Amino acid sequence: MQIHATIAGLRAARAAVGREQRVAVVPTMGNLHAGHISLMRQAREHADKVIATIFVNRLQFRPGEDFEKYPRTFAADCAQLEAAGVDHLFAPTEAEMYPQPQTYHVEPPAEQANILDGEFRPGHFRGMATVVLKLLNITQPHVALFGKKDYQQLMIIRNMVAEFNLPIQIIGGETVRAEDGLALSSRNGYLSAAERAEAPRLFQVLSRLVAAVRRSKDSDVARLEQDAMTELQTHGWVPEYVALRKKLDLQCAPVHDSGLVVLAAARLGSTRLIDNLEV
Ligand code: PAJ
Repeated sequence: MQIHATIAGLRAARAAVGREQRVAVVPTMGNLHAGHISLMRQAREHADKVIATIFVNRLQFRPGEDFEKYPRTFAADCAQLEAAGVDHLFAPTEAEMYPQPQTYHVEPPAEQANILDGEFRPGHFRGMATVVLKLLNITQPHVALFGKKDYQQLMIIRNMVAEFNLPIQIIGGETVRAEDGLALSSRNGYLSAAERAEAPRLFQVLSRLVAAVRRSKDSDVARLEQDAMTELQTHGWVPEYVALRKKLDLQCAPVHDSGLVVLAAARLGSTRLIDNLEV
């Protein structure tokens, strides 16, 4: 695997890829786990050359969030990418990505970016979309892969790519989970042993909500969501939202609609966890 710290280096490697070859990119913030690696392997099925990126993007963290303490495990990440057969790693410094403060931004529409996670992390999706557009422009892939674990992120990226006419296919990868159901996440490392034992409840609550939605075709959505929040609260969580939404645009939907997804975010101690399940 070739490692590129500069945009010029990455662009030179990109230019050396044959015109008939397909290129896939998998953007990450590092601290890689099996969820990231599953995207790398899917990328390989769609492309001749796979580029991974590692960049902890300050723009998408709010003051007081975990930018400083976000786990940085570069050597271990490289070993995993190498083992997964990734061809190129683009791992720029902050000075390389933001030589001067970024003054142009991608502003996703409020009805997509200020709901759910965006309500609790104002500005997050603007910072995320801005860096993803930069990474797509730098790597110029035919295909880019993102996980359904971050469902709202995937939706916003799909819409950004469509509205800006980027000639890039966006593929959503299924969420990889631990055996007890907990969605793999770099933030799971913040959990104490007791919190880690409690953490799978988020997945369990969502699974029961999916079952309830499938069963009760004319139930009151707000009551189902509230019951799920209450169960989390009872077990020491501070839920931010539990919501039944339409897959396509994450807007509200009646329980009997097709194409639904349930999403949740909740704090366990000082760790914020998110998860979702398609109905
Ligand atoms: P990061 O959290 O490192 O995630 C990188 C990619 O891995 C994202 O597309 C995410 O959805 C996916 N992913 C994370 N956990 C997963 C799991 N358990 N199963 C499957 N896929 C999983 O998401 C980001 O970084 C950043 O916002 C980024 C897109 C890189 C922009 O900075």
